[in-house]
Amino acid sequence: MKLLCLFLAAATVVQARDIHLQQVVGGVSGSGTTTRYWDCCKPSCAWKENVETASPVASCAADGVTTVDPSTRSGCDSDGSSYTCNNQQPWVVNSTFAFGFAAASFTGGADNSQCCICVQLSFLSTITEKTLVVQVTNTGADLGSNHFDIQLPGGGVGYFTTGCSSQWNCPANGWGSQYGGITSDSECSELPEVLQPGCHFRFNWFQNADNPNVNFQQVVCPSELTSITGCA
Ligand SMILES: *[C@@H]1O[C@H](CO)[C@@H](O)[C@H](O)[C@H]1NC(C)=O
Repeated sequence: MKLLCLFLAAATVVQARDIHLQQVVGGVSGSGTTTRYWDCCKPSCAWKENVETASPVASCAADGVTTVDPSTRSGCDSDGSSYTCNNQQPWVVNSTFAFGFAAASFTGGADNSQCCICVQLSFLSTITEKTLVVQVTNTGADLGSNHFDIQLPGGGVGYFTTGCSSQWNCPANGWGSQYGGITSDSECSELPEVLQPGCHFRFNWFQNADNPNVNFQQVVCPSELTSITGCA
C-alpha cells in the first residue's frame, strides 16, 4: 500500500511538471509579429461556420462565465450578448513557460482557416528565454500576415470599442489607450477583478514586452488550452 501511494504521488508530480509539446509536421511556422488586445468581443472562432471541428470556441454571457449558444450575436454588435469568456486570459506555468490565447492571421486580414490551432511563440526581444503557447481563438481584418494579437486584459480594446463598455462599463475607448491599453501594473486595479490576473501577467511574466517579434511553430493543442475553449 505504501509503495503504491509513493508511485501515484511520483506519477502526479511528473504529470504536473512536464508539458510535452509535439510539433505539427507540415504545420504553420516561421517568424512573425505580435500585438496585444482585450476587446471583450465574441471571438470569431466561436462561430460554428468558422471552425472545422464540431465545437467552436466557447463564448460567454456578460458575466464572462456562463457559456452561450454559438449562434448568439457578438456583444460588440448592437443587440448582441456574447463576449470573450474570462478564462481565455493567459496564465503562468513557470518562469519560462505560459499558456494563453490569441487572434491570428497567417495570410494577412481575416483568416478563419486556422481557427483553434495551437502555436508555440518564442520571443525575439525582451523575454527571449520564454515560451508562450497560444490557441488561436480569433482573427481580424486589421491583422498582417504571421501576426499574433495576444489576448491580454487591459492591453487595449483596439478596433472594437464597444464590447468592454457594454460588458464591463469600462471607459469609452477601453482601459488606457484604445491601442496598447494601460501602461502600469497598478492600473490593473481599474479592470474587473476577474480580469486582473491576466492584466498582471503582462507586467510580471511578460515583463511588459512591447509587441515583441516571434518565431512560431504549430504544436498539437495541449489539453490545458482545449479544455478551456472546448475547441480541439
Ligand atoms: C517550465 O515548464 C516547461 C513545460 O513543462 C518545462 O519544459 C520547463 O523545463 C519548465 N522550466 C522550469 C524553469 O521549470
